[in-house]
Amino acid sequence: MGNNSHDAGLSVYRDEFPVLQKLVHGKSIHYLDSANSSQKPNSVIDAMSAFMRESYSPVGGSSHLLAVDANDMYQEARKKVATFINAYSNNEIIFTKNATEALNLVAHSWGRANLGEGDIIVLTHMEHHANIVPWQILAKEKGFTIRWVPLTADYQLDLSVLPELLKGAKAFSFTAMSNVLGTINPNRELCAAAHAAGAIAIVDGCQSVPHIVTDVQAMGADLLAFSGHKMCGPTGIGVLWGREALLQAMPPFLGGGNMISEVGLDGFTSAPLPNKFEAGTPPIVEVIGLGAAIDFINQVGMGAIRQHEIDLSRYAYQEFTSRFGGDVTIYGPTDPALRGATFSFSVRDIHPHDVSEVLNEHNVYVRAGHHCTKPLHKLLDTASTVRASMYLYSTKSDVDALMDALDGVYEIFVPR
Ligand SMILES: Cc1ncc(COP(=O)(O)O)c(C=O)c1O
Repeated sequence: MGNNSHDAGLSVYRDEFPVLQKLVHGKSIHYLDSANSSQKPNSVIDAMSAFMRESYSPVGGSSHLLAVDANDMYQEARKKVATFINAYSNNEIIFTKNATEALNLVAHSWGRANLGEGDIIVLTHMEHHANIVPWQILAKEKGFTIRWVPLTADYQLDLSVLPELLKGAKAFSFTAMSNVLGTINPNRELCAAAHAAGAIAIVDGCQSVPHIVTDVQAMGADLLAFSGHKMCGPTGIGVLWGREALLQAMPPFLGGGNMISEVGLDGFTSAPLPNKFEAGTPPIVEVIGLGAAIDFINQVGMGAIRQHEIDLSRYAYQEFTSRFGGDVTIYGPTDPALRGATFSFSVRDIHPHDVSEVLNEHNVYVRAGHHCTKPLHKLLDTASTVRASMYLYSTKSDVDALMDALDGVYEIFVPR
């Protein structure tokens, strides 16, 4: 629990997260690695455990009572996901292993069917490797070109060159929010720009879906990928949403059970959506967990989560600058309205892994490294950064602990 009176906001929900109650060396821990993966509330843990204890059954193939009930729960979770992102229909929700698999599905299915020699797709300099490498693998095979949207000095996408870059492109695939800079992109505008150029808009919502309201209809996206484990759900479950007509036109990705209507020695026909893209036994327990995570997030309220993270961002920025001034470089927008509560930074010339090592000694858990964005780090002219990332259960006390621990870094590396 936040132990300062200035911890109002959502700190009441912190009690719901058992890992956050843990004491290490007799002291509270400060989990600031939520952009990597979020902690899990009791309701998610309980829903998965209750399902395995009381209702477990496979959902495809069998028609006994347990299977029918399990299938109802599985489809109910699909409905929750569809409502959460305002999909046009439940059939547009495809369960995958994670966002990475969802993006690979898009590249290998839509990309393989639609891209060839001379074609162009557009990505941005702030993409996660999950939205780079699948396209690079395919580009090598198919011979299309990848163009890159550069960044401005204030860590935004440079929209001035976007129309030119999109000329002749078949797809524009971009992250809705950077996992390093915290930048929230103008996603509606980016989708509109893609469509104006005749390209489809593929959105990596891994960092945005847990933190800001997602309305795929208002955004105007064609495809959206995200992971359950960053939004209070378990690992092993991701989502690909796509417009129904587009998903219908895409060939299957993985082949096997559950995704077929007919199979003969001479070939197969695909099952209707969403099964067409859900080959094999699905992650049933994880889907139930994701449904419970969405219930939890809805209970907190997406508007409240966003406001909480704006407040935390403002506070963190103010503390970084007032306590460390120019010694800390923050790679990301200064305006809390333009960013999420994810701060990647460097401290003087101290190696990020040294910083994170000392923070760890103070029970402050951050991540140091390239955060799966090597091209972005190259642009930032640094091999790695320290990243402190917050979520609905984070508090100003976590920020205070980070700042105090940074004092500890100074004590070791900057003798005064
Ligand atoms: C922006 C972004 N895209 C994609 C991914 C990949 O997510 P996952 O590892 O859950 O597949 C991440 C994970 O950090 C991410 O931050």
